[in-house]
Amino acid sequence: MVFQVTLAMVKPDAIDRADDIVDRVLASGLAVLNRRRVRLTLEQSTELYMEHYGKSFFTELVAFMSSGPVLVMVLAGNDAVSAWRDLIGPTDSVKAREVAPKSIRALFGTDNRLNAVHGSDSLLSAYREIKFFFPTFVVADTQESGSNALS
Ligand code: PPS
Repeated sequence: MVFQVTLAMVKPDAIDRADDIVDRVLASGLAVLNRRRVRLTLEQSTELYMEHYGKSFFTELVAFMSSGPVLVMVLAGNDAVSAWRDLIGPTDSVKAREVAPKSIRALFGTDNRLNAVHGSDSLLSAYREIKFFFPTFVVADTQESGSNALS
């Protein structure tokens, strides 16, 4: 196990349930190091999701992510990237209800787009996304296995 940080986001469709979602984060043993409620512009949403540019759902995705406020959090803990991804479940909330009924996306989401939460898919993505939302948050050791993620 390695101590890591990751980026978690409560999406616009679940912002009214953000307190319940944060309770589940804390109950899992992950710590919330920082949090911000923000509303992304279309330009910011496009930049954040640029890796999906060209996919059929891209326009819909970035429009949705800038349609209302989101809550972004820096989470920390053992294997935080996979721990948070396990907690949120599969991307599609319909599938999540089948295979991971207690996951956050199963409980708070609707489908592929309205899926309640986001989680970084790797440690490198986590560093990029944390920097995007928390520019002054210092992350060291961005090259290797992810140990010593916090400076
Ligand atoms: S992929 O192609 O496998 O990388 O895509 P996936 O990991 O399943 O999803 C990446 C993000 O795209 C969102 N998504 C959608 N948004 C709007 N409409 C549709 N149809 C759609 N399908 C997928 C999905 O919620 C993922 O967002 P994040 O924030 O990463 O969870």
